[in-house]
Amino acid sequence: MFKMGIAGTGSYVPETRLTNGDLEKIMDTSNEWIMTRTGIAERRITTEEEATSDLAYHASLSALHDAGLQPEDIDFILVATVTPDHPFPSVANQLQHRLGCRSILSLDVSAACAGFLAIVDIADKYIRSGAFRHGLIIGADTLSKMTDYTHRSSSILFSDGAGAWVVSREKPDSSKGLLYSTIQSDGEHFTSLYVPGGGSRYPNPERAGVKNKIYMDGRKIFKMAIQSMSSSIHQTLEATSHTMEDIDWLVPHQANERIIDALSRNLGFPDHKVVKTIKYYGNNSAATIPLAFDLSVRNGTLQRGNKILLTSFGGGLVWGSALLAY
Ligand code: COA
Repeated sequence: MFKMGIAGTGSYVPETRLTNGDLEKIMDTSNEWIMTRTGIAERRITTEEEATSDLAYHASLSALHDAGLQPEDIDFILVATVTPDHPFPSVANQLQHRLGCRSILSLDVSAACAGFLAIVDIADKYIRSGAFRHGLIIGADTLSKMTDYTHRSSSILFSDGAGAWVVSREKPDSSKGLLYSTIQSDGEHFTSLYVPGGGSRYPNPERAGVKNKIYMDGRKIFKMAIQSMSSSIHQTLEATSHTMEDIDWLVPHQANERIIDALSRNLGFPDHKVVKTIKYYGNNSAATIPLAFDLSVRNGTLQRGNKILLTSFGGGLVWGSALLAY
């Protein structure tokens, strides 16, 4: 069996900043409340004209450049998103054309904030089996488009962005590559974090008395996020015979700094080895992990040879972890 390595990374965020000061002007909140409860100072958000595929396109170009590959070298594209430009076709289909790739497999995967780890898991299976040599996997979301800015406890979190990896086949005995990944789901609590309207259940949200905006039960999600990510990390460490001491960096989903801090405390993992980008980027769903990863590669934090643990949790509910020898 081959291994899946990361050949290149890229990311892109829109230029417009939405600061806590901006939110103070449109709702009853304060910078102090938001910083204390979430650790977020500002978020990047798209303009009316920018869509998810635009962010994904720029992140992809950057990852291809980093990998030293051309679009025609890519054998498959997977995009994790819950905010596609259109119900169909997929963002991945649009990217295939816009990047100038061959007629290859290109699909979107819907797993909300855990979407990037879901496509890491799928891509690993495609590459390991020998079916494909190079893939482009992208987490991209524009949550601002479905954020309810009248709901002050959820709207303070969400933002837009994209992160991409070029993943490539590595020899079975390579020291580099994905060591393990796990993704799990439980739909029982799906209404704790979801968009009620706008899909086929309530295609006319106003008539049905629901919104096509994100609804979130913050307290419930807070607890479940910590429990689920902790248990999937324990499963990953056990399956690979690793302990937290073997891990150089933890790159968690950037949902809320308090969740990240509680998670590392639960795991007994030192705070200085946890990658946090939430302060300036907020929670941009499937983009948080590849965005945080790319920014940390570029500023020299994550280095080749590091053992890196990834973990995420989100609407569905879906959660997972992955361990990587970078
Ligand atoms: N500014 C000021 N006050 C606010 C506020 C805001 N933006 N949002 C809520 N409040 C108030 C509430 O009205 C409430 O006041 P009350 O006690 O007078 O009724 C109080 O603060 C507590 O509200 P609550 O919603 O219980 O806050 P919380 O401590 O649970 O914090 C979150 C809210 C959203 C920050 C927190 O629940 C959270 O982070 N949850 C996880 C969310 C998440 O990560 N989602 C994405 C998963 S992928």
